[in-house]
Amino acid sequence: MSGILYQVYPRSFQDSNGDGVGDLRGVIERLPYLAELGVNALWLSPIFPSPMEDFGYDISDYTGIDPLFGTDDDFDALIAAAHKLDLKVILDLVPNHTSDRHPWFVESRSSKNNPRRDWYIWRDGGEGGPPNNWLSEFGGSSWEFDSQTRQYYYHAFLRSQPDLNWRNREVREAIHDVMRFWLRRGVDGFRVDVMWHLIKDELLRDNPPNPDYVPGQQPYQQLIPLYSTDRREVHDVIAELRLVVEEFDDRVLIGEIYLPPEKLVAYYGDNLGGAHLPFNFALISSPWNARAVAKLVDDYEAALPSGAWPNWVLGNHDRQRIASRVGNDQARVAAMLLLTLRGTPTLYYGDEIGMLQVEISPDQVRDPWEKNLPGLGVGRDGCRTPMQWDSTPQAGFSTGMPWLPVSRNFATENVAAERQDATSIFSLYRALIALRRARPELALGAFKLVSVTDSLLVFVREHQDQRSLVALNFGREPALFEASGLRGLILLSTFMDRMDEAVSGHLALRGSEGLVMERLG
Ligand code: GLC
Repeated sequence: MSGILYQVYPRSFQDSNGDGVGDLRGVIERLPYLAELGVNALWLSPIFPSPMEDFGYDISDYTGIDPLFGTDDDFDALIAAAHKLDLKVILDLVPNHTSDRHPWFVESRSSKNNPRRDWYIWRDGGEGGPPNNWLSEFGGSSWEFDSQTRQYYYHAFLRSQPDLNWRNREVREAIHDVMRFWLRRGVDGFRVDVMWHLIKDELLRDNPPNPDYVPGQQPYQQLIPLYSTDRREVHDVIAELRLVVEEFDDRVLIGEIYLPPEKLVAYYGDNLGGAHLPFNFALISSPWNARAVAKLVDDYEAALPSGAWPNWVLGNHDRQRIASRVGNDQARVAAMLLLTLRGTPTLYYGDEIGMLQVEISPDQVRDPWEKNLPGLGVGRDGCRTPMQWDSTPQAGFSTGMPWLPVSRNFATENVAAERQDATSIFSLYRALIALRRARPELALGAFKLVSVTDSLLVFVREHQDQRSLVALNFGREPALFEASGLRGLILLSTFMDRMDEAVSGHLALRGSEGLVMERLG
């Protein structure tokens, strides 16, 4: 759990059969790359049978493999090959909703007295409209009227993603069995999709208006999702998921949760009986400057329950890529931050080679969220483009036409080229990961803030008698950190030079430079 997690978005990682969509055989081919990079586990976004309206987050069979990605045998081969390389495999579990084509929903919608009716959230309308004012994250009401049985069903996302009713015992048991199915097949854990959505208010009370809403923001933000998300009873559900995971040795439960730190940490559960790692997205939504980052690290560390293991994330398949958010130079500082903070870091595929958000023209849009709400900047295709492996056509991703366009810069920004370049961001990531593996204080040590200005963040990581000092310059101008008695050796610069330079009394940083030094004084 203290290792490094790497998110693979399977559609975009490596295509092995030329259909333009990545697949499991492709992932197997690239496992040696992940071992070379030095990560400890990969998390695969959904690979199960799906109509793909939300690219696999709309599941129609929880225990199969979508033919687009391969076969059951491919999956077993992937687990075996990964384990041979000492890589763990984490699957995406999507228990909040299914596809509307899942047999459970087909049955549920067939009649009001079908035994599976209560597996989903069905209600009569109120006063000619939906049962309440709740909104879908993807736009519009979250209630869909079903003309056959004249009731509405609830969907927090697309109307083709009806929410399961987690107040129903049979639903819980069905998903527990799904988990056991994959755990027996050898998976090392789950990343649980939208964990904070699982339980909704029993009375379905209206959500209050959001006084901070500004027109032009996504319509979902018009209301505060007080009654539709983050309900107290969700913690009982998660504790049960944890118990299922605990039936097996050494497995992990990770939760996708977008909440502020004080609410997020509740997902560790009473007596740490909840998620091992409630994903901490603070770095994804923060302004990029030293003071803001120092504050969010402090707030998070202070909020953590005792014994809880922290974690940090810079990017994922739903958010703008880090290199586009903060720029190429600061992306290196961000890499150093991610890999020197206390807790499990999660890398998003391609960020280690500095992949940028790709511009998607209107006719290339695939993301249903963007299709529902064009022009609001919600589109997620730009961070899901094919991995850039080399400078051959389609960046070595596919021999066919990729499902999303390859970035225009792939001829120079790719794994093969960056591997040859000792100063590339890829070389930096490798060096950071190697350093983190070699120096336990960087993974495990206590975090101590030393100094923060508008541009410079300095902290120490300390474990037993080993101490590292990390200095990160968030500004473009040079910066200076002075401390009498400061003494040590530079272990790594984000510029990939200055190795073994002696430090005494002060540390001078170039613009956008980050340094890790072994602290002797
Ligand atoms: C999560 C996934 C996202 C998906 C949504 C609905 O937020 O990360 O990609 O669209 O859940 O399943």
